[in-house]
Amino acid sequence: MCGIIAYIGPEEALPRLLEGLKRLEYRGYDSAGVALVDESGIWTRREVGRVAGLVRKAVDPPHATVGIAHTRWATHGGVTLANTHPHMDGPERIAVVHNGIIENMDALKAQLEAEGVEFRSETDTEVLPHLIRRHYKGDPLQAVRSALAHVHGSYGIAVAFAEHPDLLIAARFGSPLVIGLGDGETVLASDPQAIVAHTRRVLYLDDREVALITAEGASVQRLDGGEVDRDVSLIEADYGVADLAGHPHFMSKEIWEQPESLRRCLRGRIQREHGNAKLGGLNMSPRDLVNVREVVTVGCGTAFHAGMVGSMAIEHLARIPARAEVASEFRNRHPIIGPDTLYFAVSQSGETADTLGAIEEIQVKGGQVMGVVNVVGSTIARTCGAGTYVYAGPEIAVASTKAFTSQVTAMLVFTLMLARTRNLSLAQGEGMAEALLTAPDKVSEYLADPGPIDAAVELVKDARYCLFMGRGFSYPVALEGALKLKEITYVPCEAYPAGEMKHGPIAMLEKGTPVIVVAPRGSQRDKVISNIKEVEARGAKCIIIHTQGDEELARLAAVSIPVPDVREFVSPLVTVLPLQLLAYKVGLALGRDIDKPRNLAKSVTVE
Ligand code: AGP
Repeated sequence: MCGIIAYIGPEEALPRLLEGLKRLEYRGYDSAGVALVDESGIWTRREVGRVAGLVRKAVDPPHATVGIAHTRWATHGGVTLANTHPHMDGPERIAVVHNGIIENMDALKAQLEAEGVEFRSETDTEVLPHLIRRHYKGDPLQAVRSALAHVHGSYGIAVAFAEHPDLLIAARFGSPLVIGLGDGETVLASDPQAIVAHTRRVLYLDDREVALITAEGASVQRLDGGEVDRDVSLIEADYGVADLAGHPHFMSKEIWEQPESLRRCLRGRIQREHGNAKLGGLNMSPRDLVNVREVVTVGCGTAFHAGMVGSMAIEHLARIPARAEVASEFRNRHPIIGPDTLYFAVSQSGETADTLGAIEEIQVKGGQVMGVVNVVGSTIARTCGAGTYVYAGPEIAVASTKAFTSQVTAMLVFTLMLARTRNLSLAQGEGMAEALLTAPDKVSEYLADPGPIDAAVELVKDARYCLFMGRGFSYPVALEGALKLKEITYVPCEAYPAGEMKHGPIAMLEKGTPVIVVAPRGSQRDKVISNIKEVEARGAKCIIIHTQGDEELARLAAVSIPVPDVREFVSPLVTVLPLQLLAYKVGLALGRDIDKPRNLAKSVTVE
């Protein structure tokens, strides 16, 4: 999704802005631009395509120590130079970069055109500099405030004024912004990832807030007037930086990091001797947990799949009703919010608009919602106020891998806490704690010898259609495997509960169709064997993910991929690994843009 970076300080702004744009590249974008401010006015360069192209174009800049920059992911208007940010007012004295959507763009544009304004782009953003110009009477903060009073929609904006090269204005409604406070320099960004190289001291802007930013810091105010006393937050020291560490792609780095990210997620949370666990951020005592009558997770994409695993574990082990909801559906269907239901909002980025919308709906109706979030200090983490971080570290590849396994792990830790307040004995709790604590080693063990993935790649890469299937805990894994394959390779595929396959998708099978079956040891294994026989009778070739030593399944497979033997509720943490590697390697074989697949963004901050 779009990214914003702005700099004001003693140093040349351009290299810092371009470096910030590179750090935002992972979010997905299709064009990029920069504006520098000096006494003579505003200098801009814009380019369609990669930031590298903008870098080549941004030559002979003026000496400027203040500027704004943007990576655009097209929503209103095509991917053209004219639509690339920054956008300017008529006299080119005000420059704006914007994330979000101006919903009343048509009405505002019509009014401005009636006043003689000529538009240069098809974007919704361009109304902003013209509107700010209309309200500018010498006070930049007041001009932005007055302009935004007429705007409906969502925005995170940075505004530069040629008349005021000593300041920037930022404002937020529904699209994140964070201000990094350096030593004599200030950096504004839509993502802490672009700030960590400069400073770890930050101010988060909240909705309906505006900030006046100088090299010395920032003053935050409400858009409708009134000072805000915002505490400085510290981005954690191990927030991490987005480097490839010798890997060819972030996706591969993040797959191989999973033993360590899972250890981080579990660290200090499992009480082995009590057969129990503690997630401090939930702030829930056993008495509070006993009063929980139902658990519902909300999330999108991979986070929804992690919520499915979590809710299955809760139902299975804590024996209370639990279900996973797709956030975009949940938020818009006027859901019934149970007073004794505990909701979890699962999100890697912590910025997903639909998940945030679901949280707001739950909170408006008096429900209790906790975050299961990776990015520390993100909007979802702050909006929930309580919850748990999954500590996967920065996930840069658009396709989520290590965040999934960490989200699942955090939900399993919660399951142990909840189950211990119910019918899980000390001995059973100890067994569960042990299974969780050894999971990172099992992940390591698999990654050390991932099996014949290349043989699976040969079956899948030229397929016209693939089917993923699994039952129970392996059904969300099948969904996640199919999502990964779609995202990274564009190979047509879908996932079904294995038992549902006969009710339609079996018609898609022809001689040689690859069917990827997730069938670890456990309560569902024998039933899946019947499904394997059904698809093989139709000519399908099965790639079977099964537990090491399961010779019966190995014999049935065209490609047999063994995974370490783990308890059934932990199995998604190991069975998902070959599916991540399969998607990655098919993507490589097909020459895809692995970390930045077409049409996708890392963080989906629009509805
Ligand atoms: C995962 O590979 C996807 N890129 C996507 O489905 C993602 O999981 C979804 O957009 C939710 O994002 P979040 O976890 O940041 O909320």
